[in-house]
Amino acid sequence: MKHAILFAMAFFLSIGIHAQKNGELWLDTSGKHINAHGGNIIKYGDKYYWYGENRPYRGFTTEVGVEVYSSTNLQDWKDEGVALSVSETPGHDIERGCIMERPKVVYNPKTQKFVMLFHLELKGRGYDAARVAFAESDSPVGPFRFIRSTRINADKWPFDFTKKQIKAAQKTDASKWKEWWTPAWRAETEKGMYLWRDMAGGQMSRDMTVYIDTDGKAYHITSSQENLTLLVSELTDDFLDFTGKYNMVAPGGQNEAPCIFKHDGNYWLICSGCTGWAPNEARMFVSKSIWGPWKSLPSPFEGTSNYQNFTAKKTFGAQGTYIFNERTDGTGRFIFMADIWNPQHLSQSLHLWLPIDYKADGTPVIRWVDNPEVKAGL
Ligand code: GAL
Repeated sequence: MKHAILFAMAFFLSIGIHAQKNGELWLDTSGKHINAHGGNIIKYGDKYYWYGENRPYRGFTTEVGVEVYSSTNLQDWKDEGVALSVSETPGHDIERGCIMERPKVVYNPKTQKFVMLFHLELKGRGYDAARVAFAESDSPVGPFRFIRSTRINADKWPFDFTKKQIKAAQKTDASKWKEWWTPAWRAETEKGMYLWRDMAGGQMSRDMTVYIDTDGKAYHITSSQENLTLLVSELTDDFLDFTGKYNMVAPGGQNEAPCIFKHDGNYWLICSGCTGWAPNEARMFVSKSIWGPWKSLPSPFEGTSNYQNFTAKKTFGAQGTYIFNERTDGTGRFIFMADIWNPQHLSQSLHLWLPIDYKADGTPVIRWVDNPEVKAGL
């Protein structure tokens, strides 16, 4: 009898597994909600791997680490366990109780290693540390070995700053601006006031992504300067460090949750505003080069959702985390992957995947669909 009940439960759960529906919990192959938030997906061999924040049911700190799931069809996800585990050593950068966010794993064909970059906040320091961290593994499911965490681009100016711009930035003084958002403050920020403030210790790095371009070069894109300005930084060939070449995107624009893809020769960058766990309106930028100039565009989201009446004005209640292509040869649709955060129970935050379509002029547009219906194209 007991076996029959268990069998029936497994059967009904397995039916649910095939219908990952936006706005609902997404169950893994064991029937548990997928606890991989703020993450990304890669393809390796004949499998997809989904990495993300393993979040607690209560509280905000990282108690477990980065979780990894595998799938052959982008719909049925098997929990492969903890890819990068918190450390039990007091004082360690990733000591249990730190905050690990927005992990992005990429495969490096030259070194044949899986490299993970993530946003790290040190235990007990809120969001003050604002660091990026590196980890590495020989296998897609880990265990990843923590390498180090750091602020970025210390003592380096953006490569496209002129001598005049450097001089102007050196005249700014962030400590004297008590009131933000005045036109004068904004002008100083655009000059690089926070860049100058953090020149010696390194630039802040919070919400982040990693982008591998079609020529194999890797870039780190992050919310820096008190979340006011995005930085695009080139990574070394092994993806484990910065080359020192970087520049700013939309200084003072307050962009978070950067997600990027390339389509028809254009780089499209889709970000959120800065309202913590609460949803806000997305924004978009387009450029012919990863180094800009970036043209600012309105949100690509359109229409209403089937989730709590959220509309495009609030990105359907979600915040982006990554954009992946549904087909292994890159000829499929790009899928915008987002989190509908649940700050009361972060582990229960929902996943939202929406296909990216295009308007007649080629501008991306994202509308609600109940079921992402991703096709693996293996
Ligand atoms: C969001 C950010 C999340 C997390 C959260 C904390 O703006 O995108 O990754 O840091 O704030 O409040």
